[in-house]
Amino acid sequence: MIAEVKKNVYWVGAVDWGIRHFHGYELSTHRGTTYNAYLIRDEKTVLVDTVWGPFADQLVENIRQIIDPSKIDIVVANHAEVDHSGGLPVVMRHAPNATVVVSQRGAESVEGHFHQPWKFRAVKTGHNISIGQNELIFVEAPMLHWPDSMFTYLTGHNILLPNDAFGQHYASAYRFNDEVDQGELYEEAHKYYANILTPFSDLVTKKIDEVLALSLPVDMIGPSHGIIWRKDPLQIVKKYQEWAAQRPEQRAVVIYDTMWDGTRRMAEAIGDGLTDVGVDHKILHAVVTDRNDLLVEVFRAKTVVVGSPTLNNSVLPTIAPLLYDLKGLKFKNKLGAAFGCYGWSGEGVKVIEEQLDQAKIPVIREGIKCKWQPRAEDLEACRSFGREVGKATKKA
Ligand code: FEO
Repeated sequence: MIAEVKKNVYWVGAVDWGIRHFHGYELSTHRGTTYNAYLIRDEKTVLVDTVWGPFADQLVENIRQIIDPSKIDIVVANHAEVDHSGGLPVVMRHAPNATVVVSQRGAESVEGHFHQPWKFRAVKTGHNISIGQNELIFVEAPMLHWPDSMFTYLTGHNILLPNDAFGQHYASAYRFNDEVDQGELYEEAHKYYANILTPFSDLVTKKIDEVLALSLPVDMIGPSHGIIWRKDPLQIVKKYQEWAAQRPEQRAVVIYDTMWDGTRRMAEAIGDGLTDVGVDHKILHAVVTDRNDLLVEVFRAKTVVVGSPTLNNSVLPTIAPLLYDLKGLKFKNKLGAAFGCYGWSGEGVKVIEEQLDQAKIPVIREGIKCKWQPRAEDLEACRSFGREVGKATKKA
């Protein structure tokens, strides 16, 4: 169902209620998502972004409710990833004379995805295109979250269309932030930031400063996923500034896997130690916790405590990807610690500490190991370890 978000500016995208995994299976989307595309009617007709390929016909039918799709003059492709550009081939079949406006890097990536002889125009930051009464102004936003990513600003209506930035994987019957459950909205916006934008936090800060310095009035922010920020639209910009600063909460997350419950019992004893010194925490069994939800807890926490028994001179295969995520997402301002049971050689704790070091997460103290199943005194040592980790968490 289309929606007129401002006079002559329409949401013509699609709501994908059923999707539960994104980027293949990399990202969980418990609440579905939307693919937001915007049709602007002025002397020229502009489509900003499309939808994922399977929804392309729906996009065209949405457009047809407003205008004959062949009348589209300009298609802005802010970003080539196919959840936004996948509908381009169908749109361009209906509007073969339209110009596809892309960033400089988008000229590579959009062409590289579709290999079509469309008429392209590559723009840089500050370039503008008059569409009649109003103008489109472009701001390149490399690594928010791809090198080709770009923001489009519509003058007159004062709408910022920043593609993936400020988005959420959140299917809703409503289009605007003032219409939806605020807890759900922020949970999804936070998960989106933590899992997708964390490694680019310095660039997020710089880009927001750059856009704010342009002093463009912003009445609405229409990301390419989820709801549109209409009420106090800069609230999400302020929230991004806060998240990009990566100032974690004085809390901990204890993440473990276990073979015969020894490492689980260690995790819980460490948790008791954290409680002793008043440090809030979660204890997450990596096997049964959604990876992306787990990474949100890592994002929030000052201290990440990782536990695994030793297997094949290393950690369990469920813990290894987490250690790569800690490195890949480039978390800042964290502290770490390691623990685990072992039977024979006992390298698991050392492997975790090496990986924490590679992720630039300093360890609070040497990790704690337990041979075979923990005895009462081993669990008391874990509790003491938890107290020490907790005190360091509060001090930092
Ligand atoms: Fe980078 Fe929503 O795609």
